[in-house]
Amino acid sequence: MQEKLSMHGSWTSRWIFVLAATGSAVGLGNIWKFPYITGENGGGAFVLVYLVCILLVGVPIMISEVLIGRRGRHSPINSMKDVAVESGRSPRWSAVGWVGALAGVMIFSFYSVVAGWVLHYIAGMVRGDYIDIGSAMASRQFEALLADPKVLLMWHSIFVVMVLVVVAGGVSKGLERATRVMMPALFVLLFVLLVYAMTTGAFMQGVEFLFAFDLSKLTMEAILVALGHAFFTLSLGMGAIMAYGSYMPSKASIGSTVLMIAALDTLVALVAGLAIFPIVFANDLDPGAGPGLMFITLPVAFGQMLGGQIFGFLFFLLIGVAAWTSAISLMEPAVAWLVEKFPISRASACMMLGLLVWLLGIACLGSFNEISDMTVAGMTLFDLMDFATANIMLPLGGLMICLFAGWRMKRVALEEELSLSKPWLFHAWYLAIRFVAPVAVAAIFVVNLYNKFA
Ligand code: PHE
Ligand code: NA
Repeated sequence: MQEKLSMHGSWTSRWIFVLAATGSAVGLGNIWKFPYITGENGGGAFVLVYLVCILLVGVPIMISEVLIGRRGRHSPINSMKDVAVESGRSPRWSAVGWVGALAGVMIFSFYSVVAGWVLHYIAGMVRGDYIDIGSAMASRQFEALLADPKVLLMWHSIFVVMVLVVVAGGVSKGLERATRVMMPALFVLLFVLLVYAMTTGAFMQGVEFLFAFDLSKLTMEAILVALGHAFFTLSLGMGAIMAYGSYMPSKASIGSTVLMIAALDTLVALVAGLAIFPIVFANDLDPGAGPGLMFITLPVAFGQMLGGQIFGFLFFLLIGVAAWTSAISLMEPAVAWLVEKFPISRASACMMLGLLVWLLGIACLGSFNEISDMTVAGMTLFDLMDFATANIMLPLGGLMICLFAGWRMKRVALEEELSLSKPWLFHAWYLAIRFVAPVAVAAIFVVNLYNKFA
């Protein structure tokens, strides 16, 4: 029987899928966002909740996304529709894909701004801007960057073009090969930084901050942030993983592949935390400094380190690559749908979408300067895009995917796609997807809404 394949192409092997999905998952979420939201939410207890969310909610939903994508073999919008129809359900399940594609565009708009900061720091490392700067100077330099819309605009534009060029080229072997080189290099450099952090004299203070949990510090709000970040960091709830799953070989095992991707993503986040917090404490910085945390701590560390200019350059370069491989997957669901729906080329689809995300990104970067006083519920546009996607749209998308896979698809179809060797593995996943994950997501939502409005 001829294997059903996507019109957009396919990964040449299961390993390419692992690499590509890891490229999507490992990004600014791990190295930039995880440490700063952990800092803002008091450390250990937050990390614990985050890990529980990854295991009980993230992994089962990632399995569902890959499964639906591979069965549908189309963009998330059309895969949701096709699989729904195949299961005797309403084609309106495609709405999940729509909200996801929108979330992708919204995430991209602030993601690109932060990626632009990374590019600026790559250039700064080349110039030697951070040699022997203290933490006060590092803070000032970061603030000066935020205050300069022209520089932000330049880097944001460069990043948008970088991403578009790759997405326009399709699921290319060039990207696959680049990822294969850059991902191991990222792990090596993270390790180098980790070793450096151990020499700062505050390593144990960092470990304690990350792993000593004081449950009394935990707020309901922090639990929502942890849940949202579990979705964000695994690229879930918006179709990125579903799109990548649609290019996956039919024979590859979904379960073990997903476990590997989730484990790598978690590892990178924890190592990033272990690298950054000791530097925070050794330099009397504030762990709750917010989005600037990484951009202040790392230049301080590299500025003091032997060979720091080279390591710093390579490190920011690799964060840039991690951001780049993630941003590609933010665009893929919408681009794939445009190509399926209209008689236009991938390149034209990229241009159209690129213009949209570029404009939205300009509005986001203005949040730090020209339009910093324009706020909704105390949030700037940048904060709003982040909050609305990570804390609302992704968990809601994930909830719908859970309900669809767990309660609307036929069980035989699920068993066929997963083809697990041991029945108990299927039962565990089925239990998680039908009950544990949806109840957890719904409960966290209800309690947070109650707290906000009651
Ligand atoms: N997972 C990416 C990160 O951690 C962000 C992302 C979210 C990418 C959603 C694609 C889809 O940086
Ligand atoms: Na991630």
